[in-house]
Amino acid sequence: MAAWDTGSVPALPEGRDDVAAPRDASLPETALRGLGQRPFGVYVHVPFCATRCGYCDFNTYTAAELPDSASSPESWLAGLRTELDLAVRVLGEPPRAETVFVGGGTPSLLGADGLAAVLDAVRSTVGLTDDAEVTTESNPESTSPEFFAGIRAAGYTRVSLGMQSAAPHVLATLDRVHTPGRPVAAAKEARAEGFEHVNVDLIYGTPGETTDDLRASLDAVLDAGADHVSAYALIVEDGTAMARKVRSGELPMPDDDVLAADYELVDAALTEAGLRWYEVSNWAASAEARCRHNLIYWRGGDWWGAGPGAHSHVGGVRWWNVKHPARYAGLLAAGESPAAGRELLSVSDQQLERVMLELRLADGLALDVLDDAGQREARRAATEGLLDADALAAGRAVLTDAGRLLADGVVRRLVG
Ligand SMILES: C[S@@+](CC[C@H](N)C(=O)[O-])C[C@H]1O[C@@H](n2cnc3c(N)ncnc32)[C@H](O)[C@@H]1O
Ligand code: SF4
Repeated sequence: MAAWDTGSVPALPEGRDDVAAPRDASLPETALRGLGQRPFGVYVHVPFCATRCGYCDFNTYTAAELPDSASSPESWLAGLRTELDLAVRVLGEPPRAETVFVGGGTPSLLGADGLAAVLDAVRSTVGLTDDAEVTTESNPESTSPEFFAGIRAAGYTRVSLGMQSAAPHVLATLDRVHTPGRPVAAAKEARAEGFEHVNVDLIYGTPGETTDDLRASLDAVLDAGADHVSAYALIVEDGTAMARKVRSGELPMPDDDVLAADYELVDAALTEAGLRWYEVSNWAASAEARCRHNLIYWRGGDWWGAGPGAHSHVGGVRWWNVKHPARYAGLLAAGESPAAGRELLSVSDQQLERVMLELRLADGLALDVLDDAGQREARRAATEGLLDADALAAGRAVLTDAGRLLADGVVRRLVG
């Protein structure tokens, strides 16, 4: 029934590997034009995890998969510093970062000192605005009050914790290593150490999860006192341990109707508790609690993504780094760009992305971004109850509750 997305960035058309990235990482003049007038952020990818969760296909490695020093956290940090110097050279006078998002992988494995070193590297190269939002993802099991106190003192302003579920058997199916109560305790510790902004990630639709399990997870999220929740339908990603279990019949595929009912349950519980959706998979307690970094992605802003496999976007040029940490560190140590490929987005590519991303926002999409056929389709979608009729009359395409369940289908209709 519905087409579901996951991850902080909805799946965009895959980058084509047909455009070689220049070895000096230079960008066309057209991309640099307007830099600083659009919001600018920095993403840092930490490619390390203690164990791999069976559903996850992020670019991350366990210690056993990275035996040599070329892919150690120290080599990674040296590479990161060199890449941030490269960013300053390529961007000329880069705007200071309004947001920094350290994601993974498991950034908390670096410890508070490691994360402080990461932020120092950003601060001393690109620089930060005075009110920058600085987020780090953290796995509940690798955090403690001292950890939160350390990263707060270092300048982090926001923490994102992977809870996924509060039900022990669901956590076991997901191969999560933390105990059910640990994410709630971690969120409370983060708040006690001065973090006003705490996000909790939930996954729903895991095989074997019952409605009561999901309700218990939502109760735990609310008990955690988070001011932001990201809730994703489980995606069975190709090549993962979970995909192999689904193929062999050991686990059933998540059912689309169950996923739709789960989404409605999540939305109702969070809305009742005062968190409002501002993107199809994201809810926040206030405007200040929204993730400014992800809003840069969703509104077509500029960001430099540093680290193995990180993606960047500046002025209609998108590029992505080599994935393996040893290759990443090696290229930078040799004075080369870590970019593996890049794509110059055509006007129609940019238009498609804009519709895909902005339509998922509660603010919606300006109707005049659509061509005549798209606007006709939007009027039809409003008569079917998928787009808000009042917003449409005021010139914006905004999903209704029913429309959110079919967001990707509505996007396909609007772009023809
Ligand atoms: C990049 S992960 C990193 C967070 C951190 N390592 C953790 O697991 O706690 C960010 C989030 O993506 C979501 N995610 C990852 N793989 C997913 C999948 N296959 N289906 C649905 N959500 C997924 C999870 O909610 C996860 O917390
Ligand atoms: S801890 Fe997070 S990044 Fe690492 S494997 Fe699990 S979901 Fe993926």
